[in-house]
Amino acid sequence: MSHKIFITRSIPDTGLQLLRERAEVAVYEEDRQIGKAELIDRIQGMDGLLCLLSDPVDADVIAAGECLRCISTYAVGYNNIDLDAAEARGIAVTNTPGVLTEATADIAFALMISAARRIVESDAWLRSGKFEGWAPKLFLGHDLSGKTLGIIGAGRIGQALARKAAGAFDMRVLYHNRSRDMEFETRQGALYVDLDTLLRESDVVSLHVPLTPETHHLIDKHALDRMRGNAILVNTARGPIIDEQALIAALRAKRIFAAGLDVYEEEPAVPEALIALPNTVLLPHIGSASIETRDKMAEMAARNLLDVLEGREPAHRVI
Ligand code: NAP
Ligand code: GLV
Ligand code: GLV
Repeated sequence: MSHKIFITRSIPDTGLQLLRERAEVAVYEEDRQIGKAELIDRIQGMDGLLCLLSDPVDADVIAAGECLRCISTYAVGYNNIDLDAAEARGIAVTNTPGVLTEATADIAFALMISAARRIVESDAWLRSGKFEGWAPKLFLGHDLSGKTLGIIGAGRIGQALARKAAGAFDMRVLYHNRSRDMEFETRQGALYVDLDTLLRESDVVSLHVPLTPETHHLIDKHALDRMRGNAILVNTARGPIIDEQALIAALRAKRIFAAGLDVYEEEPAVPEALIALPNTVLLPHIGSASIETRDKMAEMAARNLLDVLEGREPAHRVI
């Protein structure tokens, strides 16, 4: 009997086709995020779930999936999945690391330069018909060349950003993880520092840690107070790593220069206050959104799921 798989949103054909060749596949018909009640309804009788980072795969959903053997998320981050509940039922959880590293680091890089040189703000201003000629003080931003980049969470994506920033702008790289990575230090000339030092010495602070109880509100008022007056904060990790209200207060008071954000605390809600501020660059969680990368993620998520269901060890197992 063929395996039954539920996919919570249509993904690229590279993954869909693989799954359809080998399993009975149901795809959520709506082009919107599935609700928890609908997910509980649809997961019944399914052997495999292919979900998105925005789906609430909590203990209730997992309990409703009485046949479930694998949860394959179409993302590298898996903070939306209750791992304890899955583990208690012997359900495998898989993700898509690596293939989205460069695309996500590119978005962090884009946020960094957009915030530093006020790209989005000045583009909107021009489009509104206000450009009347070159001016000595028009949209003054900050140089990046030779400045200091502080990476919080120098794993795959953080290290890729460090490499791009050091190469393009000759930036000095500081990093903070729970453990040191000597190979990264040697290769990149990166300097391991404690969080306070990183915040005090960096012109750009970029977040790349996973969302965990430890990293929730890692960047709060206390942390923002330690940052430089000309500093730029970039977040392509997860929204709740920053206390958004504290960030709004810091940006309003111009205690830091700007923020470039791809993720939000209550996604998809973005506070009006953030939208109203001129010194923010705001993207709709598009870190991995290149055609090539999403194709690879779809294939990887499909292969992970088929591997578990067909009794092989998946290449990218979380648990
Ligand atoms: P990764 O390779 O696992 O890197 C995470 C890094 O964070 C590791 O170096 C880890 O080092 C460090 N870390 C973990 N907990 C920490 C803590 N409490 N304090 C300090 N450092 C900590 O993961 P990745 O592939 O780079 O992805 C990182 C995150 O980016 C994902 O979890 C996801 O949430 C986010 N993401 C977002 C997008 C987007 O579309 N915006 C796309 C992809 C990924 P130690 O273990 O030594 O602490
Ligand atoms: C995107 O946010 C991911 O975790 O893959
Ligand atoms: C600017 O356009 C310059 O020539 O300096």
